[in-house]
Amino acid sequence: MTAQTLLLGQTLRFTADPFAEGPAAAIHDSAGGILIEGGRIAAIGQGAELRAAHPQARVVDHGDALLLAGFVDAHVHYPQTAIIASWGKRLIDWLNLYTFPEEMRFGDPAHAAGIAARYLDLTLANGTTTVCSYATIHPESVDAFFAAAQARGQRVVAGKTCMDRNAPEGLRDTAQSAYDDSRALLRKWHGVDRLSYAITPRFSPTSTPEQLEALGALWAEHPDCLMQTHLSEQTDEIAWVRDLYPQARDYLDTYEAHGLLGANGLYGHAIHLEPRERDRLREVGAALVHCPTSNTFIGSGLFDMAGLVADGHRVGLATDTGGGSSFSMLRTMAAAYEIGQLRGTALHPAQLLWLATVGSARALRLDHRIGNLAPGMEADIVALDLASTPAIAQRSTRAQDIWEAVFPTIMMGDDRAIRATWVAGQRLV
Ligand code: GUN
Ligand code: ZN
Repeated sequence: MTAQTLLLGQTLRFTADPFAEGPAAAIHDSAGGILIEGGRIAAIGQGAELRAAHPQARVVDHGDALLLAGFVDAHVHYPQTAIIASWGKRLIDWLNLYTFPEEMRFGDPAHAAGIAARYLDLTLANGTTTVCSYATIHPESVDAFFAAAQARGQRVVAGKTCMDRNAPEGLRDTAQSAYDDSRALLRKWHGVDRLSYAITPRFSPTSTPEQLEALGALWAEHPDCLMQTHLSEQTDEIAWVRDLYPQARDYLDTYEAHGLLGANGLYGHAIHLEPRERDRLREVGAALVHCPTSNTFIGSGLFDMAGLVADGHRVGLATDTGGGSSFSMLRTMAAAYEIGQLRGTALHPAQLLWLATVGSARALRLDHRIGNLAPGMEADIVALDLASTPAIAQRSTRAQDIWEAVFPTIMMGDDRAIRATWVAGQRLV
């Protein structure tokens, strides 16, 4: 018989969408258990019952920690790890001053491998088990990232960032080489172990129409792949897109006209959307990715979470490291809450936790494998200490229910709240 591991603690899982059903969509067990076998969840239930039924299982008791699915970060740039929290610029200047010079270094496989390892270690320490990352234009940067994730047994999505204009010499490919390199990387990595490839045009300003067309053709040849890009993040960016694509109806149309709008599309930021763009994104079933710490840090604007979810959009949550100012999905949930408040909607902790797990997994079309605790799901699990600092502890002792107990950790928690991170049934943190 294969080895079994039984995790004990409080458990929290979702049986429905809390945006539709409210907090009753979540099931909390104050003395729960998760039985793991072969990297997957074999059973979830009451800890004592599982223990009695599986006496041979190795028991790991996480005490009063809250066990939930590992966090899923649906939009990151791992190559920006070392330039996170760079001061004083808005999007275009921030890209030119900080981002592009750093990304230039990723043609060096040793640099790429070093940052990939650093990035995955930092995010695992923050309870994040899956990320969807942009690499750089260099194929080496994709190889380094997938190799690092593969070594850790992680489920990740990534792709070569394509740019053939408005980027410095040394950080530009061409329409043809973007197609060729992306195709070769896709063939090398997509579906290997827990890895999947995302076709990745950075955004319309850094691609010619010919490059968007080539990547649209590649996506049509591999429709099961995700396609990730940026959309309507800042007003200056939107004005620039209008100048570069005078024939386009709006920003989304620059993608739509080149075969880059679809149900497996992931559109990061999506803040300043026109009514036509909202309608088309919903019609095709595309996913929007909210990056709240980035949107405040770079000064981009306030995402319309309540309106978009009410209209039926699929929304994921993300750090957007290093435009985002944190590696932590706790901090990211806090920022989503704050932006919600600024727009007049208080997101419930059940909704915030759902966004950081099931919601992001749905955005990545991976919710049948990760993002929740249920039999058959992959055993990517985080154990949260709900009293990780004196400030949080003194607040959570007053809690009347699990939501009051977890909300101080969402708002004030960081990597000190992560008691353990499990990836495919192995404890990595
Ligand atoms: N738009 C195009 N590239 C980027 C990037 O690297 N970060 C952010 N926040 N926005 C972008
Ligand atoms: Zn981004």
